[in-house]
Amino acid sequence: MDLIPAPLTARYVEEWALPLDGDTPLTAGPGTEAVGAWLRSVLGAATGLPLLPGAGGGLELTLDGALAPESYRISVRDGRAVLRGGDPAGVFWGAQTLRQLLGPDAFRRAPLRRTGWALPGCEIEDAPRFGWRGVLLDVSRHFLPKADVLRFLDLMAAHKLNVLHLHLTDDQGWRVEIKRYPRLTSAGGWRERSMVGYRSGERRDDQPHGGYYTQDDLREIVAYAADRQITVVPEIDLPGHAQAAICAYPELGNTDVVDTATLGVWTDWGINPNVLNVSDATLRFFEGVLEELLEIFPAEFVHLGGDECPKDQWRASPAAQARIRELDLAGEDELQSWFIRHFDSWLTARGRRLIGWDEILEGGLAPGAAVSSWRGYAGGVAAARAGHDVVMCPEQHVYLDHRQAAGEYEPIPVGYVRTLEDVFRFEPLPPELDAEAARHVIGTQANLWTEFMNDARDVDYRAFPRLAAFAEVAWSELPASEARDFEGFERRMAVHYARLDALGVEYRPPGGPYPWQRRPGVAGCPSDGPVPGV
Ligand code: ACM
Repeated sequence: MDLIPAPLTARYVEEWALPLDGDTPLTAGPGTEAVGAWLRSVLGAATGLPLLPGAGGGLELTLDGALAPESYRISVRDGRAVLRGGDPAGVFWGAQTLRQLLGPDAFRRAPLRRTGWALPGCEIEDAPRFGWRGVLLDVSRHFLPKADVLRFLDLMAAHKLNVLHLHLTDDQGWRVEIKRYPRLTSAGGWRERSMVGYRSGERRDDQPHGGYYTQDDLREIVAYAADRQITVVPEIDLPGHAQAAICAYPELGNTDVVDTATLGVWTDWGINPNVLNVSDATLRFFEGVLEELLEIFPAEFVHLGGDECPKDQWRASPAAQARIRELDLAGEDELQSWFIRHFDSWLTARGRRLIGWDEILEGGLAPGAAVSSWRGYAGGVAAARAGHDVVMCPEQHVYLDHRQAAGEYEPIPVGYVRTLEDVFRFEPLPPELDAEAARHVIGTQANLWTEFMNDARDVDYRAFPRLAAFAEVAWSELPASEARDFEGFERRMAVHYARLDALGVEYRPPGGPYPWQRRPGVAGCPSDGPVPGV
């Protein structure tokens, strides 16, 4: 039935089909009421049917303690559609499957027709392969307004993705209101101009841009996500990628090396030499940031970045060198490790866990830390073997800012060519991991860095259709890469494109970008090798 992601098992029997009409009830058993309300609202909007609560028959949602968390069973036969889930999340993912079974028009927000709705007769068993099925949204390089983030959560939920990693801070913008440090957003929340395309194009615009989320906006995002069984993991990038914070509070930078008071929010892309200093005052400052952050985000994990922190300023800084001597550290790598460990202990003491990019392995991994393995698999392999949890998101495979086809029409072609098929064949578990280490790979994530995505339309184009393939990799039990049935996936995609159309997603069409999706004359990075500092 063209489900994406593919379920574990599915059997279809035509005679069991269940027509839905104005009298069909939707009954949500104990513990499934919120999912029932969600399903009634989306299917009610799309079909025009009331789907009122009843005493059974029609659509029935129930919890089933015999099923594992997040797993579900659907049985459409004998005049009923019974959805059982191991927990509310399982029921919710099953509800997403029911919606797909109703056909693409079930993804519209108002009915084109009120008749002719039917669920196909079927028995479906399903459960996710990975518990962390994530997407990173970089809302720093280009701010994504709240309404677009909420819409993106709906798109994630439709694909059974369950972790939104929100990259809230970077050199190019600070996006989370911190009440005790208002300049983080008033000064750090916008910039004067940007590079247009890749560095080699040497083009800039003069368009100020920016924005930030209030704490209440973020609470709304977190609650909206939770209603869709999605966890929001916030990222505050430390100690590199921090120029927006340094612009707002120049004392956070290496003031004995650079005149940080002259720094604005960065108007370039790439790896930035202006990193945080390592003073006690800077540690306290970010503890203050995190105190407010923990009040907004209930997630177990807090991402503290740790990537791409050039050590030049620390090498040149008498204060940083004095810190290295005082702590008896071997050098700047250990200094970064000490910095991250400080926040690892701080978060652990508050019942949370630190996750960081794989650079946090350099100089020694903090005891409780988990790792987002982005520079390939190696960091994740090392961390998993050392008993740390890992999210696999290697840039060579699942950086969705990278172009999805060769050819002159692909807009702002960055980095590797990674087609829909490449993403479909991505394998999160590298073969060198034994079963014990593999258990530490808690999941996988696709990352959407937005240097070259100005708005939600650009995000749609880069994310889709590849995020549908990624969702299948993260959710479904697939054979080894080379044995995967891409032709079958493409056939299912034919229907899935119609779902995305109904949702209003401006994906990359299979035949290539529409004229208005191209960016003629804007330089990209045409190499197919590693990309030095985008
Ligand atoms: C990263 O792409 N710098 C995590």
